[in-house]
Amino acid sequence: LAQISAAQTSSQTRAAASPDQAIANRYRLRAAGSADVRTLEELEREAFPTMTAGTPFRSDIGRTTSLYLLATRDSVDSGNVTGRPPSLVPRLLRDLRSLGRVLLFEPPRREAAAGPEHVAGFVGLWFVLDEAHVIVIATRREERLRGVGELLMIGAFEAALARGSRVLTLEVRASNEAARALYRKYGFEDAGLRKRYYTDNNEDAIIMTTPSITTEAFRARLDGLVRMHAGRWGSSERPTTPGGHATHVQ
Ligand SMILES: CC(C)(COP(=O)(O)OP(=O)(O)OC[C@H]1O[C@@H](n2cnc3c(N)ncnc32)[C@H](O)[C@@H]1OP(=O)(O)O)[C@@H](O)C(=O)NCCC(=O)NCCS
Repeated sequence: LAQISAAQTSSQTRAAASPDQAIANRYRLRAAGSADVRTLEELEREAFPTMTAGTPFRSDIGRTTSLYLLATRDSVDSGNVTGRPPSLVPRLLRDLRSLGRVLLFEPPRREAAAGPEHVAGFVGLWFVLDEAHVIVIATRREERLRGVGELLMIGAFEAALARGSRVLTLEVRASNEAARALYRKYGFEDAGLRKRYYTDNNEDAIIMTTPSITTEAFRARLDGLVRMHAGRWGSSERPTTPGGHATHVQ
């Protein structure tokens, strides 16, 4: 994989939820900016510990030919991955604080539910001619298998469609079964091999490419995946460029 930047910080954010979609995904997507470089570097080091040359995020961010998307959540949230209500002690403390404010005639304070933002994963794209290259994608280790990788992939497809890309392409280590399964789920197919591409262990890279993403058939498939993701993990806020395709609202 290679790497990219965020020329789309002016992106509008839309809630990709239908009115009857009650559950909100705790994760959302936004375009990365230069203030996110350190976080991106830290995440990349964690995800690719054997990587020798890191992605040049700093020089990349701001280029119109690249985009990094971050999957974020509130740092202080219910942690309600399992659907269980928050535990009793924090609820009691919160209620006592509210009672104290009432007794002291203090005005009600905005709930501190939305703490500082936490970044759970990121994806990088380079736009070259009519291709969108997924140059890097990673989810923080302790937050894997919670749909973050898929959310990033959905954001990548939507960004590619909004930019008029015809296909998505990437390279992946032959041994990286988790990533290859994610890519296959989103329509990537093996398209070639780069022998001994990875210099740390001389592993081969599989080149994977989607069919044309602009066809009705592919869009229908993507819409289905987006809906399934929303059904499983909740509807998510994702960036879209003005004039971008709004067909993936689930
Ligand atoms: C690949 C990676 C980004 C997936 O992120 P994630 O947040 O765990 O992915 P999700 O929870 O959204 O999983 C989505 C799909 O990916 C595939 N997948 C993810 N982890 C998998 C695993 N351990 N084994 C098999 N398939 C897996 C499945 O198809 C899954 O769909 P399913 O739940 O319907 O089976 C993550 O494992 C990662 O960061 N790995 C390290 C960095 C890396 O290798 N990046 C790719 C470089 S090319």
